[in-house]
Amino acid sequence: MNYNKKTVKDIDVKGKKVLLRCDFNVPQDKADGHITDDKRIRAALPTIQYLLDQGAAVIACSHLGKPEPDFDKWAKKQAEKGKDPASLTREKWEKSLEALCMKPVAERLGELLGKTVILAADVVGPDAQAKAAALKPGEVMLLQNTRFEKGETKNDPELARAMASMAEVYVSDAFGAVHRAHASTAGVAAYLPAVSGFLIEKELEIMGGALADPKRPLVAILGGSKVSSKIGVINHLLDIADTIIIGGGMAYTFAKAQGGSVGTSLLESDWLDYCNEMIAKAKEKGVKLLLPVDTLCAKEFSAEAEPVLHDTMAIPGDMMGMDIGPKTIEAFSAAIQGAGTVIWNGPMGVFEFANFAGGTRAIAQALAGTDAITIIGGGDSAAAVAQMGFADKMTHISTGGGASLEFLEGKELPGVACLLDQ
Ligand code: 3PG
Repeated sequence: MNYNKKTVKDIDVKGKKVLLRCDFNVPQDKADGHITDDKRIRAALPTIQYLLDQGAAVIACSHLGKPEPDFDKWAKKQAEKGKDPASLTREKWEKSLEALCMKPVAERLGELLGKTVILAADVVGPDAQAKAAALKPGEVMLLQNTRFEKGETKNDPELARAMASMAEVYVSDAFGAVHRAHASTAGVAAYLPAVSGFLIEKELEIMGGALADPKRPLVAILGGSKVSSKIGVINHLLDIADTIIIGGGMAYTFAKAQGGSVGTSLLESDWLDYCNEMIAKAKEKGVKLLLPVDTLCAKEFSAEAEPVLHDTMAIPGDMMGMDIGPKTIEAFSAAIQGAGTVIWNGPMGVFEFANFAGGTRAIAQALAGTDAITIIGGGDSAAAVAQMGFADKMTHISTGGGASLEFLEGKELPGVACLLDQ
């Protein structure tokens, strides 16, 4: 895939209306809706500020959460979740949409920019059209949640055309959503000159560079709970990396595949053969594959559970693996120390529980202490690094969760593919 895309710097935006797709899918407090982490809004500021400085008018847009814009489908989904059909009223559905309205985002963006952000009541309806038509250079407006439109996730050309009709240029800076072929992330590029913003440019440059021409040795650390969600990444990185470290819940499926006893640990029996195939592929390619040798275990999945250390291949029948142990930490840290580039996706254990956060913390610490290029791709590892206070020690923390995973799988990203090539 070609990552060499035109950027806002390659196009004249003076006096033009720019439709800017951002990833403002930010976490919110369930009780009062306030934004609990505004990193993704901050990440879009350099592009917005640049466009304003160049004399453009900015029509920003984003999805927020996963609203269901079709009442019947919403009611069906709720009923499948076991909700009482009598309680599934239109009023309740409207409330579920209201909870995902862009108002808090518009307010926060306005605070960060130091100027009013005009909020449209719809995405391509009369209010958005009228506000877009009246928008002047130097002004910013935000469309309503793009997923309030039924055509958004279907990449409906009519919706894409309607969005495009409000602007003269399309800029995408929504790295976190480039793996989605939706109307606002990809479809719209068929109707306007389409370029990337600075965030996508940076993500492509750093992550793309680490995959295409890494400073070696390239060490990939893969964690998280399921092998099934990382199959593409493991397979692709085995073609590129010098060392692959496997931790987190998925390590137990690898241990079992190699004849170990993993007790009540998370296990994906359907993926045992796959694990053995990957172990064989690593041997064939000369890639060092590091698996945990010792594991902190617990009798139950609980924050209060007492940690007990066992060999990863001999976890007692009544215990489950919760974190990597000290010998494993030492081996993984040594590999990190010798690396030229480290890519990390997925925690090493149940880092949400203090008793089992040590492995993830030790890996974050090892990354913070190395001179290697360090790239954190993925939601959970990014959250762990931030929570543990190491964020400013990393070369790059990707703003994408699913998007960075698909990037590491080597998949074509529709939101990047649709942009003009350099
Ligand atoms: C994310 O949070 O990873 C992106 O905003 C994409 O969101 P989605 O998984 O709802 O498409």
